[in-house]
Amino acid sequence: PYADISVLQVIESTNTELKNTDRVRANGDTVLAEIQTAGRGRHGRQWLAPVGGSLTFSMYWRFNDGYQGMAGLSLLVGIAICRALRDCGVEEARLKWPNDVYLYGKKLAGVLIEVEGQIGAPADCIIGIGLNVMVPAHEYDVGQPHTDLSQVLGPDVDRNEVAARIIEQLWTLLPDFSQRGFEPYIEEWQHLDWFADRTVVIKTGDKRISGINRGIDASGALLLETADGITRFHGGEVSLRAN
Ligand code: ATP
Ligand code: BTN
Repeated sequence: PYADISVLQVIESTNTELKNTDRVRANGDTVLAEIQTAGRGRHGRQWLAPVGGSLTFSMYWRFNDGYQGMAGLSLLVGIAICRALRDCGVEEARLKWPNDVYLYGKKLAGVLIEVEGQIGAPADCIIGIGLNVMVPAHEYDVGQPHTDLSQVLGPDVDRNEVAARIIEQLWTLLPDFSQRGFEPYIEEWQHLDWFADRTVVIKTGDKRISGINRGIDASGALLLETADGITRFHGGEVSLRAN
């Protein structure tokens, strides 16, 4: 079956929409929303988006190898977004492990991946992307420094073009990633890492561990260098902060 793109007006969340649909889903199916009434980030946090000023959408993809086959997926999606932005003339987008896109040190976009499926069975993934197009920093408090595409592209940013380019990149990268995994993408990701070789703090539960960010491995884990050597951190339960 061919992938389907739908643009909806007001819904709770594009992730929820793709999760709950009664339709048979095909790889690459995409839902975009003009307004989300309950846009979500990780850990039940909110994703805020002014009407008309952001891109909020989700794409469905099934990994036949299950959880194993999708290791590094949120990092791959970051690469897809950076490549797409470059195609739109934005060279400066960078990544923050594991799921943010940064522009000049501020958050431009976030990725929320949700998975359905039992261990050992195929994994049905919903890849959600929220990207600020025109979100005035002084009018909109999202709880952390944020920025938007109009900062580099001016007020007439073509939202449709940005959306189309990201979808195009995902449709290109996901089949290859399904076959070959994340390994071939490590170098590109590290090249785009805003925090490469910098001292960072990893928050895990109540603990904070400071160290030097030494990149990632093929499973998408962060490699943190401390006095004890290199420690691996997996996404999901931890957050990275500037020192
Ligand atoms: P982590 O490093 O754990 O990913 P995070 O602060 O990016 O930390 P997430 O749960 O990934 O946390 O993302 C949700 C967060 O995104 C919210 O807590 C909020 O600070 C931020 N946020 C919400 N809306 C926007 C937006 N439009 N632009 C930028 N950031 C936003
Ligand atoms: C994050 O930074 O934590 C991720 C934010 C992801 C937001 C997008 S907007 C489209 C999709 N639908 C949601 O409810 N969340 C994601």
